[in-house]
Amino acid sequence: MTTAHTNFSMENLASLCKRRGFIFQSSEIYGGLNGFWDYGPLGCELKRNVREAWWKDMVLNREDVVGLDCSIIMHPRVWEASGHVGGFTDPMIDCRGCKKRFRADQLFEELGLQPSGESEVEKKFKVPAGTKCPACGSLELTDPRAFNLMFKTFVGPVEDSSSVAYLRPETAQGIFAQFGNVLSVSRQKIPFGIAQIGKAFRNEINPRNYTFRSREFEQMELEFFIKPGTDAEWHQYWVEQRLKWYQSIGLPQESITQYTYGKNELAHYASACVDIMYAFPFGVQELEGIAARGNFDLSRHQEYSGKSMEYFDPDTQEKFIPHVVEPSAGVDRIALALLCNAYHEEWIPKEGPAIEAEPGKPPPEGYEARTVMRFAPRVAPIKCAIFPLLKNKPELVGKARDIFTTLRKHWPVFYDQTGAIGRRYRRQDEIGTPFGVTVDFETLTDNTVTLRERDSMQQIRIPVDKLTEELAGRMG
Ligand code: GLY
Repeated sequence: MTTAHTNFSMENLASLCKRRGFIFQSSEIYGGLNGFWDYGPLGCELKRNVREAWWKDMVLNREDVVGLDCSIIMHPRVWEASGHVGGFTDPMIDCRGCKKRFRADQLFEELGLQPSGESEVEKKFKVPAGTKCPACGSLELTDPRAFNLMFKTFVGPVEDSSSVAYLRPETAQGIFAQFGNVLSVSRQKIPFGIAQIGKAFRNEINPRNYTFRSREFEQMELEFFIKPGTDAEWHQYWVEQRLKWYQSIGLPQESITQYTYGKNELAHYASACVDIMYAFPFGVQELEGIAARGNFDLSRHQEYSGKSMEYFDPDTQEKFIPHVVEPSAGVDRIALALLCNAYHEEWIPKEGPAIEAEPGKPPPEGYEARTVMRFAPRVAPIKCAIFPLLKNKPELVGKARDIFTTLRKHWPVFYDQTGAIGRRYRRQDEIGTPFGVTVDFETLTDNTVTLRERDSMQQIRIPVDKLTEELAGRMG
């Protein structure tokens, strides 16, 4: 059994992501903006593949889930009903000396302090006298205060309390608010689900760990509506489904763990919650939460809107407010897990298999270093690269361009004729292209090409007219 792949530096990965166009700092030319990131040409393909894999498996391949795409800004009453206006807060502590703001739990962890057993955050995270600010050494740390994480804005020309609105901190509430409409148009019966992918925003006090904790991010959420009393079985079902899904996008079992919330950690309305966690180099962290939320959300929207959220069961003639199980995943976090899992520094000999590089050391005599992104073909941004062996031979170039034109109808593929063939392979290894096709002089006589596989670097010869079928079989 292998172990989770964590023994590499996040700096090296971030540098590759910038150099090859996966991830850039937002507004970099102005010095960046903390907690915001842009995805370059390869990064946006990677994220698109994550979204499409989720949508295919959670919506298109199921008869009991339909999609929805809600606005980011909704009526502010939505967030009163959901509890976000009153309770979506993190405790924060300010330093009056350097004006730095800390999330209280993170400050306690950094300083090795133990929170008290009190449940109120004001008491739980009260800093002991004599505690120094870790940034400037000042003794002027404030008591903790609740800080609402929602971004506020104003709708319309007047900036007063009547026009306040919020950027949604989760996509889930749009689904609850549209439950009645979707139910009436979709001919679904309970149990059924409504899925949504979209941006969400949280004004995190301390964004950190590269793109992991960002202020703008993308969620993939399913609200699966069920009959009261079936919560435990459906929760179990969705935990199992979601664990399998992570393997289907290439995250190995040994890098994934589940964390089951204890009864005293659950929100008062929830009956179960499991987090699916990935072993990042900076620690084991959540990719997705799967919560059994009872009928809390629909009941609250019924109460706040005055509109019925009841469901009439035609089989039993009963009326009830459905319960819900919510698998809620972060696209950016999954993309980051895929990047971490894919990133490998290797030493390769002239013949034979590669060995894992020792960080910070040059390769031994007779070996060459390569960085390879071992994405599963399903999520790789570019699926195949096509190379003519030499760029100054029109017969090779013409044939390679023909193959490129054929393959691009099926997948994102890349044509490259520049530089020695070994260097072209390396460039593709570094962005995780799983397959390479080389057109050489033999192609001109027998219409075959070499097909190279990225991880093993093995090459087979294959007829050009079998190439699309062969690649389709390997895409996963
Ligand atoms: N809807 C759950 C979450 O956003 O974390």
